[in-house]
Amino acid sequence: MKQKLIVANWKAYLTSQREVKAYMRVFSPGYARLAVSRALPQVVFCVPYTYLPFAKSLLPRGCALGAQDVFWENRGPYTGEVTPQMLKDVGVTHVIIGHSERRRHLGETDEMVNKKVHAALTEGLAVVLCVGETVKASEADEKRSLDFVKMQLTKALEGVPRKLLKRLVLVYEPVWAISENAGIPDTPVDAARMIMFMRRIMARLYDAKIATSCRVIYGGSVSSQNAASFVREEPIDGVLVGSASTNAREFLKVITEAL
Ligand code: PGA
Repeated sequence: MKQKLIVANWKAYLTSQREVKAYMRVFSPGYARLAVSRALPQVVFCVPYTYLPFAKSLLPRGCALGAQDVFWENRGPYTGEVTPQMLKDVGVTHVIIGHSERRRHLGETDEMVNKKVHAALTEGLAVVLCVGETVKASEADEKRSLDFVKMQLTKALEGVPRKLLKRLVLVYEPVWAISENAGIPDTPVDAARMIMFMRRIMARLYDAKIATSCRVIYGGSVSSQNAASFVREEPIDGVLVGSASTNAREFLKVITEAL
């Protein structure tokens, strides 16, 4: 069985080193206690750029460090950008790409997402690639959601060679389910259905082996109340957790639920 994966997306909720330190003061001993008795899911903290080295110095052993975005070139005249090599240099192993909030607020296009995926995978970063439809579809027009997810996934992976896919994680994150939007999570059964569909797309774009080996997780209003019901679904390999990951006690409960 694949190890489950839990990705914390802090977004811009923690806004000072003092807050990061206070968080880790609660999280680290709790995590260490959990780790004594059992094998834990893989936990990745995707934190704002400015806290990457600081968070790295405080993360308990076994947790990985991630960023929430990356640029597609490694060096050059790109004011304000942070490149894959810069991320690796400060100990980052994972990066979220294509989050709907970046698509919406920063105008990130499928083409930009595709370039970022290429660049990050080429540099050896694990890519946490987000796709998901904006509006919840009724059963009658479920096909529209399927087509949309297929289109986003296909464009994001255009030209990405099979040999780079080892470190790819797909996230089905319906935009309507994110806590800041409607805040109503998808049902585990529907999320699992979409994730099976995404695996079928991977089989078509690559092959059956990739379709089963690729990790696919769910995101959108995941909390300690529902994490277990998502990870229990066979095709779902883990969860991406936004607001519930910004409270250390709640996030520890999410991890416990996912065991
Ligand atoms: P949420 O956010 O868990 O607060 O819904 C998830 C995300 O946007 O990654």
